[in-house]
Amino acid sequence: MRKPIIAGNWKMHKTLGEAESFFDSVKGRLPDAEKADTVVCASAPFLASLAARTGEGTPSVGAQTMHEEEKGAYTGEVSPVMLTDLGVRYVIIGHSERREFFNETDDSVNRKTKAAFIHGLIPIICVGESLEERESEKTADKISGQVRAAFEGIGAENAAGAVIAYEPIWAIGTGKTATSEMANEACAEIRSTIAELYGQETAEQVRIQYGGSVKPENIAELLAQPDIDGALVGGASLEPESFIALAEAAG
Ligand code: G3P
Repeated sequence: MRKPIIAGNWKMHKTLGEAESFFDSVKGRLPDAEKADTVVCASAPFLASLAARTGEGTPSVGAQTMHEEEKGAYTGEVSPVMLTDLGVRYVIIGHSERREFFNETDDSVNRKTKAAFIHGLIPIICVGESLEERESEKTADKISGQVRAAFEGIGAENAAGAVIAYEPIWAIGTGKTATSEMANEACAEIRSTIAELYGQETAEQVRIQYGGSVKPENIAELLAQPDIDGALVGGASLEPESFIALAEAAG
């Protein structure tokens, strides 16, 4: 049995005060950690304060991206060592907004995924197709290609602990959700790609999230699908009550 994982991706939202007050509001109101994992992926300036607030009854803290090197002359970047030093446990890698606006590629996603495992961070690796790719029936090729590239050179012992988020680009922030069947079909494709790379046992352990206009109203139906183990949520993760509702659906 894979433990469900609900992760909020706050993107470039909130002030520090708002981020801290969110944490105080949800504390003690989330499902038991044995039933579901909950994570909030916040902007870099908030990570130290939020990570210091983590404990029983709080979500874990994740970063939204990172550099793959431990340190160096990379102005503006944040390293995996800096994240683990703060107590950050997760890192989103290769979100489509990073790929589109910040030149992230399958290669950089692979390097960052390797760095995450080396430093004990759990990567949430994002894959997904554009509307054009879906309409030209290239979805399966696109996402399995992204998964293969992300896991190039990574051993099964690490792969099993990864989280993969299937986020169709056309469903992000648009209010258009993939139907639960469409989402499950893509998540099943991802799982079978992992099975081809590492075998069935590893594929059964990897957790696969759906992301794209997930909200309290549609999460139960998505989670009921056999290959969907959780959600990566943007807009609907910003308000404490909505985040709690999403987490309750998983727990
Ligand atoms: O990473 C989460 C995401 O891109 C989906 O955003 O606002 O459609 O839930 P949203």
